Amino acid sequence: MTQGLTVQAELRLAKRMARLGTETAFEVLARARALEAQGKDVVHLEIGEPDFDTPPNVVEAGIDAIRQGWTHYTPSAGLPLLREAIAEDVSRSRGVKVTPEEVVIVPGGKPTIYFTYTALVEEGDEVIYPNPGFPIYESLISFLGAKPVPVHLREEKDFRLDVNELADKITDRTRLIVLNSPHNPTGSMLDEQDVLDIAAAIGDRDIMVLSDEIYSRLIFEGEHFSIMSIPGFKDRTILLDGFSKTYAMTGWRMGYGVMRSDLATHITRLMTNSNSCTASFTQVAGIEALRGDQSSVDRMRDEFKRRRDVFVTGLNKIKGFSCRMPKGAFYTFPNITETGWPSKKLADAILQEAGVACLSGTAFGDYGEGYLRFSVANSLENLNKALDRIQQWTVKNL
Ligand SMILES: Cc1ncc(COP(=O)(O)O)c(C=O)c1O
Repeated sequence: MTQGLTVQAELRLAKRMARLGTETAFEVLARARALEAQGKDVVHLEIGEPDFDTPPNVVEAGIDAIRQGWTHYTPSAGLPLLREAIAEDVSRSRGVKVTPEEVVIVPGGKPTIYFTYTALVEEGDEVIYPNPGFPIYESLISFLGAKPVPVHLREEKDFRLDVNELADKITDRTRLIVLNSPHNPTGSMLDEQDVLDIAAAIGDRDIMVLSDEIYSRLIFEGEHFSIMSIPGFKDRTILLDGFSKTYAMTGWRMGYGVMRSDLATHITRLMTNSNSCTASFTQVAGIEALRGDQSSVDRMRDEFKRRRDVFVTGLNKIKGFSCRMPKGAFYTFPNITETGWPSKKLADAILQEAGVACLSGTAFGDYGEGYLRFSVANSLENLNKALDRIQQWTVKNL
């Protein structure tokens, strides 16, 4: 008898797996889908992706590319033509000269975070990041054995990073500072003076900046300003951007990092070791996205603005909710402390009992307690339905 061979051994995971966090949006989406499978109607305001389809010219370019045989590997750093198009686009939009050698194309926005940390941050180094903030920043800092150093984004400051607080957190061990504007989950934006002050606080220290600018085309008030364009910072900045949000291309998986060319060669080595390359037909579609008609980007932004206005106005009429007007991205981040409910419990109840899926502020770090995040990437009809449902729920329960 070979009975022993059928016994499953206990899984022995590497210790670092215990330090890996997650993005709660995907978990809430799964729970909402499970409720729908039981027949419940749910309005989805939890996930951070445009509800629009990818613009038709980009779809056609992708289909043509597959037909034309763009179904093989590309160089690990990406197709030269796309790197060129990105370099041109970033040079124009950020007012700083970028060359194709300084661009690495990767499958989405997230890989630039992972690769930057892996290439630059040693165990024990400190990484400063916004909290509340995109949860992957903190998750990967811990995963790689570095020390997460949160900077509290406060509502009183319109959720903009307080430069004095940032300056207090900088130590000799600080290796990297993560900036994100427009900001997920609060929709806040750093203005030019904020970014200049942050640059002054960093001074000439040997600290790198990961500037996550993935929402930089989704701005309703004010103008985007990148730290990369400040003299002396181009060589210390890794600019993260991508196609997911601007061109409604989340499922195509394509983003890019812009960085000094010597670092780009190392990030390219990480690509070779992990993904080989970003999907080739996706990259061909990316050239069309950047060089083709941009009117769909403007249309989507105008529509998000209209929805933001309606939703924030509606939230502010609900007992216990108060919401600032976000300046960019497609999220609203109401303060719910007046409800007397903790964020996670309230988000769970609103999903289970009101049929509206949203995220607890704590999904974005400890300083997210007291808030919920609702995405406005859904139709006005559904947003109004969500407002009605939450309103009715609060009347019954508060
Ligand atoms: C601030 C921020 N950075 C990066 C990403 C990752 O984008 P992608 O889906 O292209 O990996 C997101 C997605 O939600 C985000 O909100």
